[in-house]
Amino acid sequence: MEKTNWLDYDTDEIVKGDKNCLWHHLKPHKVFETQEQMIIVEGEGLNVTDIRGREYLDVTAGGVWSIMVGYGRESIAKAVYDQLVKMPYFAGVYGNVPAIKFAEKLLEKLPRMDKVYFSNSGSEANEKAFKIVRQASRIVPERKGKFKILFRDRDYHGTTIAAMSATGQIQRKQDFGPFLDGFVEIPHCCCYRCPFDKTYPECDIECAHALEDVIAKEGADTIGGLIVEPITAGGGIIPPVKEYYPIIQDICKKHNIWLIMDEVVCGFGRTGKFWGHEHYDVDPDIVTMAKGLASSYEPLSATVVKQEVYNCFLNDPSNEETRLNYFRDISTYGGCAGPMAAALESTRIIEEEELVENSQVIGDYFLERLQELKDLPLIGDIRGVGLFCGIEFVRDKKTKEPISEGEMATLMGRMMAQNIIVGRTNSSFNGLNTIMNFAPSLTITKEQVDTVIAAVRIAVEEKL
Ligand SMILES: Cc1ncc(COP(=O)(O)O)c(C=O)c1O
Repeated sequence: MEKTNWLDYDTDEIVKGDKNCLWHHLKPHKVFETQEQMIIVEGEGLNVTDIRGREYLDVTAGGVWSIMVGYGRESIAKAVYDQLVKMPYFAGVYGNVPAIKFAEKLLEKLPRMDKVYFSNSGSEANEKAFKIVRQASRIVPERKGKFKILFRDRDYHGTTIAAMSATGQIQRKQDFGPFLDGFVEIPHCCCYRCPFDKTYPECDIECAHALEDVIAKEGADTIGGLIVEPITAGGGIIPPVKEYYPIIQDICKKHNIWLIMDEVVCGFGRTGKFWGHEHYDVDPDIVTMAKGLASSYEPLSATVVKQEVYNCFLNDPSNEETRLNYFRDISTYGGCAGPMAAALESTRIIEEEELVENSQVIGDYFLERLQELKDLPLIGDIRGVGLFCGIEFVRDKKTKEPISEGEMATLMGRMMAQNIIVGRTNSSFNGLNTIMNFAPSLTITKEQVDTVIAAVRIAVEEKL
């Protein structure tokens, strides 16, 4: 008889199925000729169990920093179940109750924003932002010709070709070009490896002022948007200095360039405030988000805009000339009901359990404990905000020469051998995939932080 209970399995059959059928994300598959892929089958709190019954402490919140409320939340599963039974799906051209409620919740969290456009993934949320900029550059007289998007070196904005075009990570882009016209890079803002070889605060925040130079070179009348992560995530945990965004904001305002804040990683409490950009005096025109939105129990993303942006697309449908001047974009799963129910419940948990506050308190503790390791060999820089911190490893603390890819793999293996899953910059930069990162669910306790710190010490103290 054909099996219908999909959760029943025979371990060997599943392991074989993985090897025979699955093509995993971001993995060189040659290794699976001799190695078995880890298959995660259960999770509770911060712990996950693999198919062989081995338990791990997950300090990556699901690998990509998105299970904000931890594993095993039955109330989220129940909310999705109830919604699917009542009304599973209708395209986002119409409304549905949980989407309306969740949009209201998002605007409560972003009081200076006005309209919410839903889609499925972080990449897609950013694509919407780019399409908004581009279409506005055709249909709004005062934005005519302002189609270009600026992006920052080391930032990541997604996997699709436009999102990659806006990404400042050379290894992620390698072999996938040619990229789209009209995407232009500005310098990164990592003080540890200052692109101008300067030291804060004497640097006068040259990395921010450099935006003016790029604009001058490209022509302000050709640029419609600048996309940035509030704090660079996958590019190596880079919180800009506090003066950075006010300078960026002023330059953008002066040239009528919309500031797009990619909160895909930083949103929903990751950095100890609800939004990453709240650490700065800055007021973006467009905010994109995904990952923590529904704690990744369901896929969901959003592009949230100010009224001024939205108004650009309010056309008169009876006017033959402007009839098509509305945002002609659709996404089959964007805004469907199940993920909204998950997002509403996940956000309720974040609020009720004060997880943003926990992210700040335990995040400070995490960073403090990491600083204790600063004098160990290999540890070049320690940086982070909230529950989002990392260590940059170097072979030589003076010259800042990075450790090798092989040495980084060894360090990661040593963490795994202690049953702890941590993250790292991965296939992003030539010679700089050497930053280990820690971005656990926001429910993490001090005791769990202590376990991680002890494991890092062991991993680093043993000779490479
Ligand atoms: C800052 C940022 N933006 C966008 C994305 C793309 O999100 P997704 O993988 O959901 O398309 C990511 C993914 O890691 C990200 O880190």
